[in-house]
Amino acid sequence: MADLPLKGGPLEPGQTIGILGGGQLGRMLATAAARLGFDVVILDPEPDAPAGRVAAHTIVASYDDPQGLEALGAAAGIVTYEFENVPAQAVARLAEMGVEVAPGPLALRIAQDRLEEKTFLNGHGAPTVAFAAADTPEAAVAAAEQLGLPVLMKTRREGYDGKGQRWVEHAADAAAAFRALGGVPVILEAAAEFVRELSVIAARGRDGATAVYPLAENHHEGGILRRSIAPARVTPALADQAERIAARVLAGLDYVGVIGIELFEMADGRLLVNEIAPRVHNTGHWTLDGCEVDQFEQHIRAIAGWPLGPTVAVARVEMLNLLGEEADQWLKFAAEPETRLHLYGKRDAKPGRKMGHVNRVKPL
Ligand SMILES: Nc1ncnc2c1ncn2[C@@H]1O[C@H](COP(=O)(O)OP(=O)(O)O)[C@@H](O)[C@H]1O
Ligand SMILES: [Mg+2]
Repeated sequence: MADLPLKGGPLEPGQTIGILGGGQLGRMLATAAARLGFDVVILDPEPDAPAGRVAAHTIVASYDDPQGLEALGAAAGIVTYEFENVPAQAVARLAEMGVEVAPGPLALRIAQDRLEEKTFLNGHGAPTVAFAAADTPEAAVAAAEQLGLPVLMKTRREGYDGKGQRWVEHAADAAAAFRALGGVPVILEAAAEFVRELSVIAARGRDGATAVYPLAENHHEGGILRRSIAPARVTPALADQAERIAARVLAGLDYVGVIGIELFEMADGRLLVNEIAPRVHNTGHWTLDGCEVDQFEQHIRAIAGWPLGPTVAVARVEMLNLLGEEADQWLKFAAEPETRLHLYGKRDAKPGRKMGHVNRVKPL
């Protein structure tokens, strides 16, 4: 069994960090960890995962495979994850082995269920749109009538990139929408008439210290993030509001690591929280080339019990996701002096798949 270095102090260079999930977020986390002298072990069901190819070790196993988790726990001083749909049992299993997982089980549980998430947020002074849960077609119709139309129906669990969501224009259509989403428990949300979508990336260390990045302004297409511009142009009052929300969420979750908080800026200047992601976040990729310490290194610092680094912006960045075949233009991007190219090493450029991103860097 791994010794428990964090009980006695920070994880030291040369020790090993485990990451559940081997996609692009795991890859960028692994790269940051390597830069600080750590070894990384990735657990992913796919043999050829993007993160596995830059890590010291890879365990190919499903997230609930006892042997895989055993091997991960034996190798790593601490384990983190790159996506929020890691099964709760996997984290519980690691905890039984005495292996610490950060962010902890509360953050994971809250972020896995949109109903729990919105309930938690409202209970911690982080306002959201009005919402109602439904477990049957009849309840979905009633919820739509209660909230007013249109409403956005989302599966409570496992949605991402706009998947598992349907707009409902007429209350009677809510029954069909419920069935179309698979007949699983859903949440219905009042339509947010936002003027902008923003996000705040923040971190909390083991000592409770927090660090907040400048806000990003985000543009989605077809439910997928297309573009972020950061630091977003915001008033000091708006930045304060975002910082207060981040502080409440981090403290309420007794959080360790980096978190992504998606926000709606309303016409009256209020910020509503759309959702939280207990991990590094696509809208924080600009920090790789725009901030003194980027979100990936920050996450590694936080979970390893190191001091958090400065989140100050050193440049203005436009981040563009490269989806599907767009990444084939790598040579063009590489020739642009203001463009920093980040490719994820994915073999198969399916339409809409996140293959990489570019950060276009300008002076502040
Ligand atoms: N209540 C809402 N009102 C208006 N637009 C919404 C609402 N909820 C989500 N959206 C839009 O859909 C996008 C994806 O929804 P989100 O809840 O963030 O799901 P995902 O987990 O797929 O990112 C948001 O970024 C926003 O553009
Ligand atoms: Mg989202």
